[in-house]
Amino acid sequence: MYARVIGTGSYLPGNPVSNNDLAARGIDTSDEWIVTRTGIRARHLAEPGTTSSALGLIAAERALEMAGISAAEIDLIIVATSTPDFIFPSTACIIQGKLGNKGAAAFDVQAVCSGFAYALGVADKFIRSGSHRRALVIGAEVFSRILDWDDRGTCVLFGDGAGAVVLEAAEQPGILATALHADGSQFGILNVPGQICNGQVTGDPFLRMDGQAVFKFAVRVLADVAEEVCATAGISAAEVDWLIPHQANIRIIEATGKRLGVDRDKVIVSVDHHGNTSAASIPLALDEAVRDGRILRGHKVLVEGVGGGFAWGAALFEF
Ligand code: ACO
Repeated sequence: MYARVIGTGSYLPGNPVSNNDLAARGIDTSDEWIVTRTGIRARHLAEPGTTSSALGLIAAERALEMAGISAAEIDLIIVATSTPDFIFPSTACIIQGKLGNKGAAAFDVQAVCSGFAYALGVADKFIRSGSHRRALVIGAEVFSRILDWDDRGTCVLFGDGAGAVVLEAAEQPGILATALHADGSQFGILNVPGQICNGQVTGDPFLRMDGQAVFKFAVRVLADVAEEVCATAGISAAEVDWLIPHQANIRIIEATGKRLGVDRDKVIVSVDHHGNTSAASIPLALDEAVRDGRILRGHKVLVEGVGGGFAWGAALFEF
């Protein structure tokens, strides 16, 4: 029994915000600095009040429409997010309520930028076990809410958005292999170290990052985990039709592709127009490449994420 992707969907809020737009808003930066260091040219930023569930709902509806099934037929909903609507209930339950689904298992996965790879890995195991037949796996973020807009070293890197896939139990592949890992000793290089206590935010509620440490860690584990899932599936990385790394930074993406020996034209890049949307970045890039006709039925697609924790993971599937 395999879990097969039968639909993809995504949603970006509002209009693109260019690097020059950020500079015009008073951030001490330039298009040249951001493009050279990161490859990012624009990102989307949600209006105040627009939540991860609002973005995730639209992505989910689009994925269900492509799959040709109704929300009532879903029996598992997993949302990967680090920017949930509330402390509780989970964003998955909120989206479930908005979709009008009753009875499906619904929960959030918190693995930051590797969240979608984690959610896909968990959903795959539910489906392969035979306990569930149709899963909605969503990555949804409003990262703009946890950025310190006075910290030019981080605020220019991220954007908001959501992506989703529908998985169905099938006899033909399907997800071929998944791998999930973490190393909590690295929590200090990327975190949002605030807490809520007695009705107040204590500590620092904004994203903090040691960019160079993140860079080195990310390239190493993204190459390792891609090789791991390929080995499990019995193929080489060069046989993959499409590589979709987490869209953090063009230099991380290119270095990963190079280490794996994957041709540049097989690497899907959306960081230039999405920025880093954390758990939403992989399903956003995947949906874009499915809808514009690059990813076709039968293609082998390798998706992989890495982020705060540090946590990382990958999934290799035949579309
Ligand atoms: N605009 C202009 N100048 C800036 C900006 C900006 N937005 N941000 C920082 N600078 C300046 C700094 O102040 C510093 O100036 P100084 O030399 O006068 O002190 C200079 O640029 C260099 O700063 P660094 O932080 O050393 O810049 P670096 O070359 O390391 O690039 C970057 C920073 C792009 C974040 C890089 O470290 C990187 O690519 N890291 C990878 C991390 C990443 O992509 N994280 C995303 C989230 S994590 C994830 O998703 C896995």
